[in-house]
Amino acid sequence: MPPTTRLESARAMVPKLELAGIRKQFSFAGKTLPVLEGVDLSVEEGEFVSVIGPSGCGKSTLLNIMAGLEEPDQGTLCMDGADAAGRLGKVGYMPQKDLLLPWRNVLDNTILGPELQGVSRSRARQQALGLMERFGLKGFEGHYPFLLSGGMRQRAALLRTVLAGRDVILLDEPFGALDALTRSRLQEWLLELWSGLGKTMVLVTHDVDEATLLSDRVYVLTARPGRVKMVMPVALPRPRTLDMVTQPAFLSLKASLMTALREEDLRAQEEPWR
Ligand SMILES: Nc1ncnc2c1ncn2[C@@H]1O[C@H](COP(=O)(O)OP(=O)(O)OP(=O)(O)O)[C@@H](O)[C@H]1O
Ligand SMILES: [Mg+2]
Repeated sequence: MPPTTRLESARAMVPKLELAGIRKQFSFAGKTLPVLEGVDLSVEEGEFVSVIGPSGCGKSTLLNIMAGLEEPDQGTLCMDGADAAGRLGKVGYMPQKDLLLPWRNVLDNTILGPELQGVSRSRARQQALGLMERFGLKGFEGHYPFLLSGGMRQRAALLRTVLAGRDVILLDEPFGALDALTRSRLQEWLLELWSGLGKTMVLVTHDVDEATLLSDRVYVLTARPGRVKMVMPVALPRPRTLDMVTQPAFLSLKASLMTALREEDLRAQEEPWR
């Protein structure tokens, strides 16, 4: 629906998440490692944005900064137009490793967010049980993480992230360790989930197909220190389906992203000390 009041128009123009001039370096064993340098990135409300870049270029660090787990050395971060100093706990975050608690079954792993927010365990469980089918976990609620397949672990971690109830969700290589078929099934499923939930998503991935298929825009970072090399709008129609990956429009976007990524990957390999 188009905005009807001046206030709504103003709100509609404010990005959900806006990072400007983000700089971050780490000091370790007496050495300083510049990791991010002048990164500008914005995400509109309800938008799906992906970040790709060579290994070690600072993608997870960038998500940690968005989540509030790390602070930048320089630069600003705004949520809904306001300074995001107190953002810790305001976004849903699925870190690179699924980090399911081995002593909790699937159901109790997924309710961690609401529980930490003070929601009673029985109420949180009711809510989670209502979503098990949609997340392909029905019948496995009582299983412990070691009994699950890789794909199920990822879906359980994703459900836990969704149940944290935040309108911004950060996903760090959610399907990283999966075989190609499981991965594409989960990508399709994530697309469906995203369109149903209306959340703002930021996805870090190494997979150019995944970034192109899912996103409204893709950011390509340079080799470390990560800078924004390229921002690629993905103007493919929605709803998107897996068969799009062979269409010429998709292939041409993918080729541009691959070229940019390969250039940076090569630089990262030629100068690994950077
Ligand atoms: N807390 C930390 N202290 C010191 N160095 C760190 C810390 N966190 C990350 N680094 C270093 O910062 C660099 C960027 O790490 P980061 O995890 O952000 O990369 P990445 O782009 O996510 O890599 P990958 O694609 O392999 O996951 C790496 O060289 C890493 O060793
Ligand atoms: Mg990472």
